Order: sequence, then C-alpha cells, then structure tokens
Amino acid sequence: MTESKNGPEPMVCQIGAQRRPSEPCSIVIFGASGDLTARKLVPAFYHLCKEKQMPAAFRILGFARREKSDESWRAELREALDHFSRTQPVDEEVWRGFAANLHYCVGDLTDAGAYGKLEQKLSSFGAAPLRHNLLFYLATQPSQFGDVIQQLHDAQLLQRGHSNGGWQRLVVEKPFGHDLASARELNDELTRYADERQVCRIDHYLGKETVQNILMFRFSNSIFEQLWNRNSIDHVQITVSEQLGVGARGGYYEEAGALRDMVQNHILQVLALTAMEPPVSLESESIRDEKVKLLKSIRPLLRGDVARQVVRGQYFAGAVQGQPVPGYRQEPKVKPDSNVETYVALKLFIDNWRWSGVPFFVRTGKYLPYSASEARIQFRPTPNVLFAAQCGPSLDANALALRLQPNEGIYLRFNGKVPGMNMNVRPVRMNFSYDAEYGAYTPEAYERLLLDALAGDATLFIRRDEVETAWQIVDSIRAEWEGKPLTNREFYSAGTWGPVASDDLLAQSDHVWHEPRIDFG
Ligand code: BG6
Repeated sequence: MTESKNGPEPMVCQIGAQRRPSEPCSIVIFGASGDLTARKLVPAFYHLCKEKQMPAAFRILGFARREKSDESWRAELREALDHFSRTQPVDEEVWRGFAANLHYCVGDLTDAGAYGKLEQKLSSFGAAPLRHNLLFYLATQPSQFGDVIQQLHDAQLLQRGHSNGGWQRLVVEKPFGHDLASARELNDELTRYADERQVCRIDHYLGKETVQNILMFRFSNSIFEQLWNRNSIDHVQITVSEQLGVGARGGYYEEAGALRDMVQNHILQVLALTAMEPPVSLESESIRDEKVKLLKSIRPLLRGDVARQVVRGQYFAGAVQGQPVPGYRQEPKVKPDSNVETYVALKLFIDNWRWSGVPFFVRTGKYLPYSASEARIQFRPTPNVLFAAQCGPSLDANALALRLQPNEGIYLRFNGKVPGMNMNVRPVRMNFSYDAEYGAYTPEAYERLLLDALAGDATLFIRRDEVETAWQIVDSIRAEWEGKPLTNREFYSAGTWGPVASDDLLAQSDHVWHEPRIDFG
C-alpha cells in the first residue's frame, strides 16, 4: 500500500489489462446511415480514441445505400457528436485524428458488386491487418443479416475461424429473433460462415458498469456471498422502470412489447448475474456457462402458472412528472385496439439448491413515475422475539439494493436506534455511490462492448444458448396471452407504478413492491 494524506491508498488489482486490442483492424458498419451509428457507435469509438484505447491503426468504414463521400459522412458525424457525445465540448484535435480514419462506401446490401467495392476499399488501406482483421457491425434489420453474411463470405471477407492470418467477427444487436424458432434461424444464419466465438451479440445492459459490478460484488467479497441463498434471503426484486413512453417507436413496439423488448434480454441477464453460481474461472465461457445454467433452472411456467405468476399491463393517458401524456393506443403507429403490453411483472422461481422456494419478482414498464433500475435483495426478517416481537411488521427486514441506474451505487438497509430517550428503532442506509467514490467517469456501455468486440473477449456478449433459453421462458408466457385481449385490470394510468394486478401478485405471498430509491447520490 502507498500512503497519501488520507491514509493508505487501497490496492487496485488489475484484471485483464492485457486483453486490450492492440492489433490494427478495420470496422465495417452495415446500415451506417442509421441512427445507431451517429448516436452510439461513432461517439463510442471517438471516446475510445480519446482514452487511447483504440488499436494503433484502425479504419471505420460506413456501408449504406445513401450517396455520401468520406468528407460528407465525417461532417455529418461531427455534427452528431455535438448532440450525442457524453463529453462536451468535442475535442477538435482528437476528432481530427479520429475522423481521418472514417470512410464511407455506398452500396446496396444485396448487391454483390457493392461487396467488391468494399473489398477494394479495404485493400486500399494497405497494411495487411487492416485488410484481414475485420469487425462487421450489422446495424441493419435482422432480416438482412443472412444476405450480408452470404455476400461477405462470397467476397471472401468472412471465413469460419481465423483466415489470411487475421480474424473476422460479427456484431449484432437485439432483437435476436421474436421467438425461439426465429432466434434459432437467425443463429443458424449468423453461424453459417462463422464460429459461435466470432459472433458478438450485444445486450447493452452488460456494458453497464453496475451490471458488470454484480459479479465483482458477489465474488470478490466474502461477506455477502455467504448470505446469498435461501437461508438468508426472503425474496429478490428486480425493477427496471422507465419514465418515457413508447413515443416514436410504436411500429417496433407493436411487434415487441415489454416482454420481448426488456425481459427476454436485459432483465433475464440481470437476474442471471444476480443469482448464478460462482463460475469455475473468469474465462468468458465459464461465466456464460453459469448464466445458462441459471436460466435453465428457472421453473418453467406451465399452463395456469402464467395467470398466477405473470401480470401484463398497458398504459392509458395520464400524467408523468405533471405533464399530460397519451395512452399507448394513441401513440403513432400503434393499433387503436392494440393488446401489446407496455408493462410486465413476473414471479419466478429458480429450482436449484441455492434458491429453492425463494421468489424472484421482476417488473418493467414504460411511463412509470421515474426511470430507475435496481436489483433488491430482501433478507429474511429476524426471529419473532426481542425487537421483532415488540414491533411486529413495523420492524424493517434488511435489504441490499444494487442500484443499476441512475445514481449508481449499492445500499444496505438495516435497523438502528433513533437517538434519544426512547427506544425507537428505524431503518438506516449505508450507501456506496459510484460518483462519490470514483468521480463522474462513466463510460457508455457501447465503449466497453466495442472494445471487447475488438479484443475478441466474449464475456459480455450473449451466447447462442443464452438467447435460446431466454426465449423458451418468454415463449411460454406469450403462448398463454395469445388471443386474449387485455382486461380492465391490466390497464394502468401513465405515471403510476403499473396495474393493480401487479400489487396483487406480491400480496399473494404477503410481499410488497419496493420502489427504487433515486433521491441520493
Ligand atoms: C432497449 C429497449 O433495449 O433498452 C428500450 O429497446 C429501452 O425500449 C432501453 O428503453 C432501456 O435502456 P436503458 O439503458 O435506457 O435502461
């Protein structure tokens, strides 16, 4: 330990510093004129450059149908950076160095000639690694993946395993299909000319610092893991609430709904990390193996279980933060009699040795009172003697909340004596705040994920079997909803915590939802 005026500095253990990408490479973004490129991908690469995390040499090649030159694309992206960069103002010197690596290739995704042009452009980059180490980011409709992959292979740009002394990887984002069958088809397409290890499926939740920290928190500390089981934990609540409505995304949302949009991916990932067994090593496959094992241990929802254990909801017109907002059925591109759910709450059981009998309550919804995500571990109450005998239900049970966003942190809630002459007990909180501890450095999820894709580290990407197992869970619920219109009990006013049925879901077992706390940093 080194000394500072505040005492010994804590030791930092550096894991995986050697995983950073050092090999030069080219990144090809298909569908580069879309929103994602300007909003997320380019700002993330710009920041990686700023942080000196990019390989010594790299090129980013946008591929899309719209006519553009390298210069006009760069100008467009520079302007977008003013809106979407997490750091402002944009550092002009960093930008100039970065922008020199941006190139544009006009082409139709289905036109073999366009891939010939792409190949030529890559060849013009000179150095062999820039031609052979290739990251293909498919920012297109999933229905176009098959075409792109076939064309890349035909143009000899994509090979299974390592080829030409280089590597090629595919990056894709959700939706990974819309059910198990379509996910399998999509996965078959993705792996037609690539190994599973060459496919990076992004779930941006895994790029969030707080989500990554779940593993560190659980497995680099000894105090909590001993309590992390059915003996000490009464139940777990995972809330991902969103203050925004569906807005302009009605067209997409009509096909998705909250279950596919949030539960199949983000929420089941958070659940898996919160509940999985310790992996045998920090290798990506060991970690992903444990997540799959956990997902497979979730008790299947059979006929009749869905009605008892799943609540769906849809918002009607209400007020959020005092502002009137429309109902879901009035949103653009939404059918006026749509039965798509904008809210879902589930009670799940994990049938393994650790969790047997412990309910996991998860919920997510649009137009809830505020945006907040947390995993709350609710401990068992004390035995009914001493304080519990005196206080009854007004004695709080301990809780640990992993606050994923905003005001990222962790807090532990426990009871203490209120100072004074009386014997009053009330809960207090011990709070760890990322901001207070580490300052405001919070890289965007995409920065970490893109860096890992360049480095070939698969830990934070979703493996094929994870996707498919998650769909099995979701499909069984959808099958039960099929053809059943929403009932009155399933509507909620925008700006509230969801339909009353969701409170009933917890009341069945004498539980209540705990709203995430966001009022302290
Ligand atoms: C996306 C969903 O995957 O995640 C959106 O499609 C949702 O509907 C978003 O709003 C939530 O992400 P975050 O990072 O804002 O919690």
